[in-house]
Amino acid sequence: MDVFDLIVIGGGPGGYLAAERAAQGGLNVCLFEKRALGGVCLNEGCIPTKTLLNSAKLYRHATESEAFGVTAGDVKFDHAQVIKRKAKVVKTLVSGVGMTMAAHKVNVVSAACEIKGKEDGKFKVEAEGKAYYANRLIIAAGSEAVVPPIPGVKEGVESGFVTTNREILDMTELPKTLAVIGGGVIGLEMACYFASVGVKVHVIEMMNKIAGPTDNDICKVLMAEYAKRGMEFKLSAKVLSVKPGFVVYEDKDGQHELACDKILLSVGRRAATKGIGLETLGVEMNRGAIVTDDKLMTNVPNVYAVGDCNGKLMLAHTAYREAEVAVNNILGKKDHIRYDSIPSVIYTDPEVASVGDTKEQAEKKGLKVKEVNVPMMYAGRYVAEVDGGKGFCKIVLDTDKNRVVGVHIVGSYASEMILSAAMMVDTELPPERLKKFVFPHPTVCEVVREAIFKL
Ligand code: NAI
Repeated sequence: MDVFDLIVIGGGPGGYLAAERAAQGGLNVCLFEKRALGGVCLNEGCIPTKTLLNSAKLYRHATESEAFGVTAGDVKFDHAQVIKRKAKVVKTLVSGVGMTMAAHKVNVVSAACEIKGKEDGKFKVEAEGKAYYANRLIIAAGSEAVVPPIPGVKEGVESGFVTTNREILDMTELPKTLAVIGGGVIGLEMACYFASVGVKVHVIEMMNKIAGPTDNDICKVLMAEYAKRGMEFKLSAKVLSVKPGFVVYEDKDGQHELACDKILLSVGRRAATKGIGLETLGVEMNRGAIVTDDKLMTNVPNVYAVGDCNGKLMLAHTAYREAEVAVNNILGKKDHIRYDSIPSVIYTDPEVASVGDTKEQAEKKGLKVKEVNVPMMYAGRYVAEVDGGKGFCKIVLDTDKNRVVGVHIVGSYASEMILSAAMMVDTELPPERLKKFVFPHPTVCEVVREAIFKL
């Protein structure tokens, strides 16, 4: 009988890190993965998209750097080569996860598994007709793209005309025209890639703004930058149907048929919790996601859920932290997660990074706040590197508690700067203390320092 201290279901960032940390803590771990180690993040999300976006950035540098004294002749963009390189990057990182699992003696089972309740006080999990038992479970089953019941979408997916984040990353030919349904994070990152390399991109968004809860002024900067690359936005637009070669949508001006070669469907993701036997344990669910507390515990003792499947904050780095919190609790070490200081990034060009509340969100919670907004042009390095950039950094201060509750940045290096902001939110240090930190010069991050001094 195969008995383990811990069974982890899912080998994405939440699952593989949980397995690694648990093994480091001395537990005998078995991990099940039905597709590929690394999950959505490594195989069809964070890493492949960043590989594509970097190629687009290189192309833009090669073609738009005359003002910087650089002119290149006959620059070509080879999308098939970009996809080939992406596959190589993914393979390297996925095999790295495999090696880490092996180094920690995690028993990896490459198969779909299903929970079959409890037997003799132990959790029973079956895969390929074989039973595995454990004293504890960590569910890290991830998420899947939402495919809404819009007429024609199902047929479009079958014919390849409609893609999700998965299929679009394996497409080897650039479409001439791409319609992106959903102007959220996935839609904007992919739109940025395709528009930067010459594809005509239309973003169709149901709400009256792109990028969900992102600061409104940041959205305006993004839309203005994208418009320069020929991208068109249809806001407050409802998609009615999809038919071969067209997407039909409705806005205040009536119904429209938009011709396109491909459609990217990016209208959100949902927890992937079906078919894993959670009902055999009576795990509490909320709209398809597993309900967890701040220790990542479910309502069933010794069952934890980390990453996208708990539907809290679908980000790989959230899953990492959740995995560590769950394992620490299993190992008897006190730990809990706090979600309000987890940063998020949109890897568009310019980049967007934020942590905590915007002014509007904080005010809705009843906080008394002060917001400062400093242009990135205050940072010498930004001026040196970016011509006429419109980047800025906003800090939101809770004036009653005298602590930073939100930071919102748009511009180059935003993704690399946001950790300092997340630390400000997490540590709750007052501005007087934050002013004593020394920022390296010249860095774009100095704009954060400038903003702190305006609080
Ligand atoms: P999302 O929730 O960010 O955006 C979906 C958008 O689609 C929303 O703006 C919504 O209003 C719109 N929408 C929904 N139904 C629609 C319809 N029928 N017609 C038009 N618009 C419609 O979801 P997305 O972009 O699919 O991303 C999924 C998850 O993946 C997110 O939770 C995100 O956090 C994560 N992710 C994170 C990334 C990052 O951290 N850089 C990158 C990519 C994804």
